[in-house]
Amino acid sequence: MTLPDDQVFARIGDDGFTRLVRAFYAQVPGDDLLGPLYPPDDLAGAETRLRDFLVFRFGGPQRYVEQRGHPRLRMRHAPYAIDEALRDRWVALMDRALDESALPPDVTAVLRPFFADVATFLRNR
Ligand code: HEM
Repeated sequence: MTLPDDQVFARIGDDGFTRLVRAFYAQVPGDDLLGPLYPPDDLAGAETRLRDFLVFRFGGPQRYVEQRGHPRLRMRHAPYAIDEALRDRWVALMDRALDESALPPDVTAVLRPFFADVATFLRNR
Protein backbone atom coordinates (compact mmCIF):
# COMPACT_ATOMS: atom_id res chain seq x y z
CA MET A 1 0.00 0.00 0.00
CA THR A 2 1.20 3.51 -0.77
CA LEU A 3 2.30 5.57 2.23
CA PRO A 4 -0.05 8.56 2.60
CA ASP A 5 1.70 11.94 2.09
CA ASP A 6 0.86 13.17 5.58
CA GLN A 7 2.63 10.19 7.16
CA VAL A 8 5.99 10.74 5.47
CA PHE A 9 7.15 13.16 8.18
CA ALA A 10 6.28 10.64 10.89
CA ARG A 11 8.53 8.09 9.12
CA ILE A 12 11.66 10.20 8.57
CA GLY A 13 11.28 13.36 10.69
CA ASP A 14 13.25 16.58 10.33
CA ASP A 15 16.39 14.50 10.18
CA GLY A 16 15.40 12.57 7.05
CA PHE A 17 14.38 15.72 5.15
CA THR A 18 17.51 17.53 6.33
CA ARG A 19 19.73 14.73 4.98
CA LEU A 20 17.86 14.65 1.67
CA VAL A 21 18.00 18.39 1.09
CA ARG A 22 21.66 18.54 2.15
CA ALA A 23 22.50 15.82 -0.40
CA PHE A 24 20.66 17.85 -3.06
CA TYR A 25 22.32 21.19 -2.30
CA ALA A 26 25.78 19.58 -2.00
CA GLN A 27 25.57 19.09 -5.79
CA VAL A 28 24.23 22.55 -6.67
CA PRO A 29 27.32 24.81 -6.57
CA GLY A 30 29.21 22.54 -8.97
CA ASP A 31 26.34 22.14 -11.42
CA ASP A 32 26.74 24.12 -14.64
CA LEU A 33 22.97 24.74 -15.10
CA LEU A 34 21.67 25.03 -11.53
CA GLY A 35 24.73 26.45 -9.77
CA PRO A 36 24.45 29.98 -11.20
CA LEU A 37 20.77 30.28 -10.16
CA TYR A 38 21.16 29.82 -6.43
CA PRO A 39 22.42 32.50 -4.00
CA PRO A 40 26.07 31.55 -3.32
CA ASP A 41 26.08 33.40 0.00
CA ASP A 42 22.78 31.90 1.21
CA LEU A 43 22.83 28.23 0.25
CA ALA A 44 22.17 27.37 3.89
CA GLY A 45 19.04 29.56 3.75
CA ALA A 46 17.92 27.89 0.51
CA GLU A 47 18.46 24.51 2.16
CA THR A 48 16.29 25.51 5.11
CA ARG A 49 13.51 26.86 2.87
CA LEU A 50 13.26 23.67 0.80
CA ARG A 51 13.55 21.47 3.91
CA ASP A 52 10.84 23.35 5.81
CA PHE A 53 8.56 23.33 2.75
CA LEU A 54 8.88 19.55 2.46
CA VAL A 55 8.35 19.05 6.21
CA PHE A 56 5.15 21.12 5.98
CA ARG A 57 3.94 19.43 2.78
CA PHE A 58 4.44 15.93 4.17
CA GLY A 59 2.71 16.18 7.52
CA GLY A 60 5.23 17.91 9.80
CA PRO A 61 5.33 21.29 11.59
CA GLN A 62 4.13 24.41 9.76
CA ARG A 63 7.42 26.37 10.03
CA TYR A 64 7.51 27.04 6.27
CA VAL A 65 4.09 28.72 6.19
CA GLU A 66 4.78 30.67 9.38
CA GLN A 67 7.99 32.09 7.93
CA ARG A 68 7.29 32.29 4.18
CA GLY A 69 3.48 32.29 3.85
CA HIS A 70 1.58 30.32 1.20
CA PRO A 71 4.11 28.37 -0.92
CA ARG A 72 2.95 29.75 -4.34
CA LEU A 73 5.71 27.72 -5.94
CA ARG A 74 4.97 28.71 -9.52
CA MET A 75 5.07 32.37 -8.63
CA ARG A 76 8.26 31.99 -6.60
CA HIS A 77 9.93 30.24 -9.53
CA ALA A 78 8.82 32.79 -12.13
CA PRO A 79 12.21 34.62 -12.00
CA TYR A 80 13.93 31.47 -13.33
CA ALA A 81 13.58 30.38 -16.96
CA ILE A 82 12.73 26.73 -16.33
CA ASP A 83 12.86 24.84 -19.61
CA GLU A 84 12.87 21.09 -20.09
CA ALA A 85 16.66 20.79 -19.70
CA LEU A 86 16.67 22.72 -16.41
CA ARG A 87 13.69 20.77 -15.10
CA ASP A 88 15.39 17.48 -16.00
CA ARG A 89 18.64 18.55 -14.33
CA TRP A 90 16.88 19.52 -11.08
CA VAL A 91 15.13 16.14 -11.04
CA ALA A 92 18.40 14.32 -11.79
CA LEU A 93 20.12 15.98 -8.81
CA MET A 94 17.17 15.18 -6.56
CA ASP A 95 17.07 11.56 -7.78
CA ARG A 96 20.75 11.25 -6.86
CA ALA A 97 20.07 12.84 -3.46
CA LEU A 98 17.28 10.31 -2.89
CA ASP A 99 19.64 7.46 -3.73
CA GLU A 100 22.38 8.81 -1.46
CA SER A 101 20.22 9.53 1.56
CA ALA A 102 18.81 5.98 1.56
CA LEU A 103 15.43 6.82 3.08
CA PRO A 104 12.96 3.96 3.66
CA PRO A 105 11.73 2.57 0.30
CA ASP A 106 8.07 3.46 0.98
CA VAL A 107 9.13 7.09 1.54
CA THR A 108 11.29 7.20 -1.58
CA ALA A 109 8.36 5.75 -3.54
CA VAL A 110 6.27 8.78 -2.53
CA LEU A 111 8.96 11.47 -2.88
CA ARG A 112 10.46 10.50 -6.26
CA PRO A 113 7.27 10.99 -8.32
CA PHE A 114 6.32 14.03 -6.21
CA PHE A 115 9.52 15.86 -7.16
CA ALA A 116 9.21 14.87 -10.82
CA ASP A 117 5.60 16.09 -10.99
CA VAL A 118 6.20 19.40 -9.21
CA ALA A 119 9.26 20.05 -11.37
CA THR A 120 7.13 19.52 -14.49
CA PHE A 121 4.50 21.88 -13.05
CA LEU A 122 7.19 24.54 -12.51
CA ARG A 123 8.29 24.53 -16.15
CA ASN A 124 7.60 27.99 -17.50
CA ARG A 125 9.43 27.94 -20.88
C1 HEM B 1 12.24 22.54 -11.89
C2 HEM B 1 13.44 23.02 -11.57
C3 HEM B 1 13.68 23.94 -10.40
C4 HEM B 1 14.51 25.02 -10.38
C5 HEM B 1 15.39 25.49 -11.53
C6 HEM B 1 14.41 25.62 -9.07
C7 HEM B 1 15.13 26.74 -8.66
C8 HEM B 1 14.97 27.37 -7.46
C9 HEM B 1 15.76 28.50 -7.04
C10 HEM B 1 16.90 29.14 -7.83
C11 HEM B 1 15.30 28.86 -5.80
C12 HEM B 1 15.80 30.02 -4.92
C13 HEM B 1 16.65 29.44 -3.82
C14 HEM B 1 16.38 30.11 -2.50
O1 HEM B 1 17.04 31.12 -2.21
O2 HEM B 1 15.49 29.66 -1.75
C15 HEM B 1 14.24 27.95 -5.46
C16 HEM B 1 13.51 28.01 -4.30
C17 HEM B 1 12.58 27.06 -3.91
N1 HEM B 1 12.24 25.95 -4.59
FE1 HEM B 1 12.84 25.45 -6.46
N2 HEM B 1 13.51 24.92 -8.32
C18 HEM B 1 13.05 23.88 -9.07
C19 HEM B 1 12.17 22.90 -8.65
C20 HEM B 1 11.58 22.84 -7.40
C21 HEM B 1 10.72 21.77 -6.95
C22 HEM B 1 10.37 20.53 -7.76
C23 HEM B 1 10.32 22.10 -5.68
C24 HEM B 1 9.42 21.38 -4.72
C25 HEM B 1 9.13 20.11 -4.77
C26 HEM B 1 10.93 23.37 -5.35
C27 HEM B 1 10.75 24.04 -4.17
C28 HEM B 1 11.33 25.24 -3.84
C29 HEM B 1 11.08 25.95 -2.60
C30 HEM B 1 10.12 25.53 -1.47
C31 HEM B 1 11.85 27.11 -2.64
C32 HEM B 1 11.91 28.23 -1.60
C33 HEM B 1 10.79 29.23 -1.91
C34 HEM B 1 10.79 30.41 -0.95
O3 HEM B 1 10.22 30.27 0.15
O4 HEM B 1 11.33 31.45 -1.31
N3 HEM B 1 11.69 23.78 -6.41
N4 HEM B 1 14.06 27.07 -6.47
